[in-house]
Amino acid sequence: MNKLILLIILPGFFIACGPAARVVRVPDEYRSWKKTVDKILDYPIAGHGQSFRIIYINSIGEKVTPLEKDGRMTYDYPDGTIIVKEVYPSQEDLDKNVPGMLTCMVKDSQSPQAINGWLWIVKTPGDPAENVFTSKFCLECHLDANESHSLGAGNINEEFRDYVFFPYTSSAK
Ligand code: HEC
Repeated sequence: MNKLILLIILPGFFIACGPAARVVRVPDEYRSWKKTVDKILDYPIAGHGQSFRIIYINSIGEKVTPLEKDGRMTYDYPDGTIIVKEVYPSQEDLDKNVPGMLTCMVKDSQSPQAINGWLWIVKTPGDPAENVFTSKFCLECHLDANESHSLGAGNINEEFRDYVFFPYTSSAK
């Protein structure tokens, strides 16, 4: 192959496969988004110890409209929805306004990494690295969101909530 052709092909290869291809799913400015719950959650979750949580949703996610399907209210968040949960391990972290961890759900139903339509991501605030979970660790708990459960919002009518515990409603702040 002549050198000129190599010079043309190689940069394209690196753009497609190198670090430049990394996609940031969860932007830093999520705090300007709406919250799905108008309070700081502080009840204990089994196995997670005591912590404080705040949940934000982007404007695409606000568009979710529950519809009745086969007699069951069904949420189907649009592709592009991002939900970010800030986790503050202690009161001190909360007072300092510095979460220890972000757990995030990004709806991208066509992604090969999606599990039940969502990318399940953990990141540390200030660090651009996004750790996409490829096991069903997150999903296994979040299956409960579609059933009647005792955490937070409950779900006494057993709506299909698309694995989201606190469904976005237009009354949310
Ligand atoms: C032990 C059960 C459990 C596991 C495991 C779990 N979650 Fe959750 N998650 C919850 C509960 C309960 C809520 C409801 C809000 C709260 O109480 O913090 C929640 C809320 C969330 C929310 C806000 C949207 C909603 O459902 O209201 C996101 C985003 C989230 N979790 C992401 C993740 C990710 C990513 C993982 C895997 C790394 C994960 N979760 C693993 C129990 C769990």
